[in-house]
Amino acid sequence: MSKNIIVTGGAGYIGSHTVIDLVESGYNPIIIDNFSNSNFSVINKLEKICAKKIKSLNIDCTNKNELVKKIDWQNILGIIHFAALKSVSESFENKKKYFFNNVESTRVLIDIAEENKIENFVFSSSCTVYGSPDLLPVNENSELKKALSPYGETKKKCEDLIKNSKIKKFHILRYFNPIGAHKSSLIGENPKNKPNNLVPLICQCGIGKRKLLTIYGNNYSTKDGTCVRDYIHVSDVAQAHVCALKNMIDKKNCKEVLNIGLSKGISVLELINLFEQSNNIKINYVFGERRKGDIQEIYADCKLAKKKINWRPKNSISQALVDAWKWEKKNKLS
Ligand code: UD1
Repeated sequence: MSKNIIVTGGAGYIGSHTVIDLVESGYNPIIIDNFSNSNFSVINKLEKICAKKIKSLNIDCTNKNELVKKIDWQNILGIIHFAALKSVSESFENKKKYFFNNVESTRVLIDIAEENKIENFVFSSSCTVYGSPDLLPVNENSELKKALSPYGETKKKCEDLIKNSKIKKFHILRYFNPIGAHKSSLIGENPKNKPNNLVPLICQCGIGKRKLLTIYGNNYSTKDGTCVRDYIHVSDVAQAHVCALKNMIDKKNCKEVLNIGLSKGISVLELINLFEQSNNIKINYVFGERRKGDIQEIYADCKLAKKKINWRPKNSISQALVDAWKWEKKNKLS
């Protein structure tokens, strides 16, 4: 049986960490990435970590012709689809671009999977599909409220396309907030432009690339007025993909939707404090306006992933913050 797994967006943040776990579990990842928000140097670093050549193709996943031409789909065991645009704020400014990129790429990959009878499909979804939840923690049966951003709408739409497709085996993984970096400090979160996500911004303030962190809103109805999220080490998120593959490969039918988080609600202020304590460094911040599209409070019930795919997160939030900071320091020097 072929061990080839297509990893779209495999040079990106979560994708690259997953490539390592795939190799360690005996799979042969083939990366497809258009490098729009990642660097080619990630591939070299992955090869160093895995001590193995990693095949990568520079293709945009909305380009079906190119995908069909360049890949032998008959010899593919599964697809893990990460490739997507992921900035909530940018999605308001360029809704069309977000819809085309995120939804069309998913449609193309479903088509290819159906045409070539590729039965194992993992999709990178997000807790953003829950919108602003009434009850916490959210589990997979919680109502999917109206998405608060076009980005959120694209993820919901992609989930629907997969659920309504002919693919017999899929896992839709709804990540909460992946943070941190690989323990080697060779790869981590490294967006091409200004980061949108909290932890890379905290790290950039710590290292002096930015003077001040703006906390978006301190008048939410939460424990300290700042938004609450469920942060989880990116390597634990990566591991969930291997667990999902292992769970479905020998089955005839398997359709799962699973939350992937640490099941702990942490506020922005608490996270900054924990970063300061864990890394013995001071972060300067100010309170600013609320950010459009932000959910007040969300954290996960992840019992189902534990039960269905035998997935257990191993790292604490503090460890993730130590790894994020180690990566930032090393990345700055390299
Ligand atoms: C959102 C999605 C998440 C998705 C991610 C992709 C929700 C609930 N979550 O993450 O599923 O994977 O986008 O990018 O929609 N913050 C500041 N100052 C900053 C930056 C962030 O205070 O400079 C705050 C935000 O207001 C938020 C928290 O930090 O409360 C986390 O923000 P971020 O890291 O951007 O992730 P989400 O927006 O939660």
